Amino acid sequence: MRDRDFLRFFLAQAVSSLGDWIGVIALAILAKDRAGYAGVGLVMTARVLPGFLVGPVAGVVVDRWDRKKTMIIADVMRGVIVLSLPFVPGLPYLLFASVLLESLTLVWGPAKDASLPHFVPAGHLQHANSLTLMAVYGPWPVASIVFASLATLAAFLAARIPIFGALEGNEVSLALWVDSLTFAFSAVMISIVAMPASQRTARPLDWTEAKRDLIDGLLFVRDHKQVRPWLVGIAFTFVAAGGVFSLGVVFVEQVLGAGDRGFGFLTGFFGTGMIAGLLAAAALGRWIQRDVLFSSAVVLAALGLLVLGGVGSLDQALPTALIIGFCGGVGYSTGYTLMHQATSDELKGRTFSAVYTVIRLGILVGLGLFPFVAGAIGDHEISLAGGVLDLPGSRTTLWLAGLLALGGGVLSTRAIRDRRAGEAAAPRPKRGYFIVFEGGDGAGKTTQMTAFAGWLRAHGEDVVTTKEPGGTAIGRRIREVLLDPEQLGMDARTEALLYAADRSQHVAEIIEPALAAGKTVVSDRFVDSSLAYQGLARGLGLEAIYGISEWATGGLLPDLVLYMEIDAATGLERAGAEPDRIEREGGGFQERVAHAYLALAHESPNRFVVLDGSRSVAEVHADVVAVYERRRGAEPPTLVVPGELAPEPGPVPR
Ligand code: TYD
Repeated sequence: MRDRDFLRFFLAQAVSSLGDWIGVIALAILAKDRAGYAGVGLVMTARVLPGFLVGPVAGVVVDRWDRKKTMIIADVMRGVIVLSLPFVPGLPYLLFASVLLESLTLVWGPAKDASLPHFVPAGHLQHANSLTLMAVYGPWPVASIVFASLATLAAFLAARIPIFGALEGNEVSLALWVDSLTFAFSAVMISIVAMPASQRTARPLDWTEAKRDLIDGLLFVRDHKQVRPWLVGIAFTFVAAGGVFSLGVVFVEQVLGAGDRGFGFLTGFFGTGMIAGLLAAAALGRWIQRDVLFSSAVVLAALGLLVLGGVGSLDQALPTALIIGFCGGVGYSTGYTLMHQATSDELKGRTFSAVYTVIRLGILVGLGLFPFVAGAIGDHEISLAGGVLDLPGSRTTLWLAGLLALGGGVLSTRAIRDRRAGEAAAPRPKRGYFIVFEGGDGAGKTTQMTAFAGWLRAHGEDVVTTKEPGGTAIGRRIREVLLDPEQLGMDARTEALLYAADRSQHVAEIIEPALAAGKTVVSDRFVDSSLAYQGLARGLGLEAIYGISEWATGGLLPDLVLYMEIDAATGLERAGAEPDRIEREGGGFQERVAHAYLALAHESPNRFVVLDGSRSVAEVHADVVAVYERRRGAEPPTLVVPGELAPEPGPVPR
């Protein structure tokens, strides 16, 4: 907040969000005045509809256009529309305005998100994002209070001061005019933010690529054991939330007899509860397992709705709304964190866009459908022995919404069951990830390893790089013996045992402790070097070599092996002037090594990937990163030791 530009940016966000919320309340009330139940439903539908149509296009606009200008224009237009609302009578204009307002907000939002990293150093992005969330939701309770006060003020002015006489019966107008000022404020703030222009290249949008990404994301969301129940919970809850919002105005008037300001207060209490819930969620998450917390929050919010449907006066409704809001806030924030935890970075964007779509779809259904349902059910009275039970449509429908949310909450408890089942099956602590680079001599392993380790660190991984032979002090002594060009008489088994000895020290001293601490270990060579060089090229046999190595390492295997393929002649040329004992080996030894690696890759496609090492450093690096992103998080591999070497290697994973 000490950063001037961020502060302006934050204020612009908070104030224009305030405007947004006031607009939502004011439009709902205008719609009710002009067209009753159905009017509210239609206006709310018009609000959510652009999410599907404009949402995807908005991202493109934001990426191609000057973001600052985009935001300013969107603000000015929103201000003008809101200003015009009281002057144009009838429902159609309200619908048109709702679509336009929402579309502009949908362009404004991504422009804002995309600009954020321009101000904020990477390390502070998380805080900046939390502040952003607060700027979006924080104004909610304030909005309803501001709205309620403005309506009161308008009524007061209309009664006392003659020139405000026109406000009589149009108390909403004053709120709308003040609302348009919030957008003007935001436009001014954004215009004085120093926003470095982003260096965007005009890259044509690849629709097939975008489509495939979208499908990948949807499949992930559909198939993930935990993500799916959470999403179902969220969807049902937002259907209910949409219902409450569109029914609220009518419910407050019909059942609670409390009018427009009553609705303002009700949403105000709900919003305040929500903010408290958002704030409390992190603390509660320390005491209660997150998935348990999520499901209970949804179930409690649903029970709250059922209670709300039953109350008869505003002073009973307000605390209930507060509690529902609190549970909703806890559920929302916890669900968000759960999704983050369950999703790898690579899938986050798509998972969250699925979450947003589900939320929008939920709200759409809730907002659009429930008023019609309420209208269809109609108002009833049931005569009981003791008297008459009043059952207006809004009350019955609120109960329906409560039951729906309850269903969502109950369905989301499946995630807890699946987690418990998972924990019972595999009580594994979080371990690090183990990647090995393999390759014939001079294939460019070292260069690629350095580049990759740098990439991992830049992505926040705790990385340990190491090598064989000679990763430890003891190993360096062994290495001297192994590679000494003088030691021409070394027996093949001695050689194999020395490599294994080096490896056991390496695992015990470096690799195991790092993995146990959750670090990512990148090693230059590991078991597969012995399998290729000693097992296959020297002809000692894979089973024998794997046997010694397994004993030496306690069975540790890499999660991923990247083999840099290069033809032996180029490799030796690249390796340089002073070949070591192994590099001096003639008689087709290097070719046998290359062949051996391909055979291993063919046998263990789930842990081996072959990369063409003869390409440029940058090309190979891009491949390394792509393979890593694809493989990380996959099942831990197993090793298949082929009985003997096939004369021609079969197809290998690339
Ligand atoms: P080194 O100087 O580390 O170079 P590079 O890995 O870049 O080729 O050489 C290690 C040599 O040891 C290399 O020629 C392969 C050989 N080696 C084996 O024969 N068996 C093994 O198990 C290991 C780890 C290495």
